[in-house]
Amino acid sequence: MTPRPRGGEPCRPIPFGKELARGAANRELELVRTVIYPGSFDPFTNGHLDVVERAAKLFDRVIVAVASNDAKRPLFTLAERRRLAARALKPLANVEVDTFEGLLVQYAQRRGACAVIRGLRAVSDFEFEFQMALMNRKLNQRLETIFMMPKGAYTFLSSKLVKEVARLGGEISPFVPAHVEKALRAKLKPHRR
Ligand code: PNS
Repeated sequence: MTPRPRGGEPCRPIPFGKELARGAANRELELVRTVIYPGSFDPFTNGHLDVVERAAKLFDRVIVAVASNDAKRPLFTLAERRRLAARALKPLANVEVDTFEGLLVQYAQRRGACAVIRGLRAVSDFEFEFQMALMNRKLNQRLETIFMMPKGAYTFLSSKLVKEVARLGGEISPFVPAHVEKALRAKLKPHRR
């Protein structure tokens, strides 16, 4: 018997799209390379969109996985974050949006993903991202982490800064899709009695 590799199963071929429709009769299922793009996405920005567009050209399927991440006390609920990301990504046929709780490596294994994408904007991102990638590799050595750089114009962009600018009444339309801007304005509107 072939020994089972340490650190979880290898990337599994998963029936998807046309292959799924053909069903079990088709013995030659094509290998579908699935990648996970995890994050808090609180909220989804044009920088995230740029990374997903790049990943969607390289992989057969991209799963944008919105982490519940309650410890970060997100502004938007998990359902809202998922909805905002899904609307921005609707035109991309090979991209789906999902939510997850718990360990990323376990979620990636459940979804049959080969790799995790993380956006890298500047050197300041690197230390934390490197730690996270190595910890994830320790937890599952078969799951690769791939860093992708967004367009130069987005290197300063983060959900955190967008929220701060919006809170203080600044212009955020260059940084987020229009529906995200609207949702942010509504969320931050002072409650009237
Ligand atoms: O957008 P963020 O907040 O930088 O995303 C961080 C995220 C969600 C990718 C990270 O916190 C994560 O993977 N959370 C899931 C729990 C987990 O697996 N933790 C161990 C990571 S080494």
